[in-house]
Amino acid sequence: MSRVQGKRCLVSGAARGIGLAVCERLIEEGAQVMMADVDAASGEAQAQRLGEHAVFQPLDVTRDEQWDSALDAIERRWGGVDVLVNNAGIALMGDIESTTPEQWQRTLEVNLSAVMLGTRKAVARMKGQGGAIVNMASIEGLIGEPLALAYNAAKGGVRLFTKSAAVHCARAGYGIRINCVCPGFIDTEMVRGAVGGLDAEAAGQFQQALMARVPMGRLGQAREIANAVLFVASDEASFMTGADLVVDGGHTAC
Ligand SMILES: NC(=O)c1ccc[n+]([C@@H]2O[C@H](COP(=O)([O-])OP(=O)(O)OC[C@H]3O[C@@H](n4cnc5c(N)ncnc54)[C@H](O)[C@@H]3O)[C@@H](O)[C@H]2O)c1
Repeated sequence: MSRVQGKRCLVSGAARGIGLAVCERLIEEGAQVMMADVDAASGEAQAQRLGEHAVFQPLDVTRDEQWDSALDAIERRWGGVDVLVNNAGIALMGDIESTTPEQWQRTLEVNLSAVMLGTRKAVARMKGQGGAIVNMASIEGLIGEPLALAYNAAKGGVRLFTKSAAVHCARAGYGIRINCVCPGFIDTEMVRGAVGGLDAEAAGQFQQALMARVPMGRLGQAREIANAVLFVASDEASFMTGADLVVDGGHTAC
């Protein structure tokens, strides 16, 4: 298959979970993928496993200068960048009473401000040639979850940031499309870790309430989100920009 044949892709948060599944799908469909993450050990190992079309790049998405290094590296290796997937993210659970200013700040830094850093730098490089940027939002950017205060704010911000940047690039005629994918609850370390951070009673209540709210009655798989990213990153989505692609088992449909 060759739905993204020859496209040069930079994926953040690529060492595990959704980001790793995105890399796998892009490579299966003909892309070359630079797998960026703060976790060098896992990132290197996964890039080796994925073979000749994958390479690891250390990247802390909150560090402006490291974006320059990553984009320089992909240009040196493959001559440019066609696709950026801003996937790296963290989830610190807490409500309006328990969330500390430090947790709030860190959540917004990684999940929202870093998306701006990466998008801004990628737009500058893609301007002359076009490209696609996919920002990983969440259904937590569509609906409120009391225990995800800062995460809700960050993901809601990612959605509207994406629309603003998408409209700018479309009106400027850059040929750069920018979209969001909004996953529901997916079976990754992030969800396992977030639930594990709650006390037993809160964790039980959270899981019970969650399953009751998903009409399909299960968590999603990382590959199901990767399929959506693949589509918006590919030329099949050529008339799609500033959009939210929701993939949530019906969670936000009711
Ligand atoms: N799992 C879900 O249910 C779910 C739902 C909606 C949205 N999302 C979003 O999808 C994305 C991926 O989530 P996941 O479930 O695969 O998470 P995960 O925790 O399994 O993986 C996240 C990856 O991001 C990397 N990372 C964290 N901070 C980083 C930083 N500063 N710089 C670079 N890399 C960093 C981690 O090392 C890790 O490899 C996140 O943006 C998350 O908010 C996840």
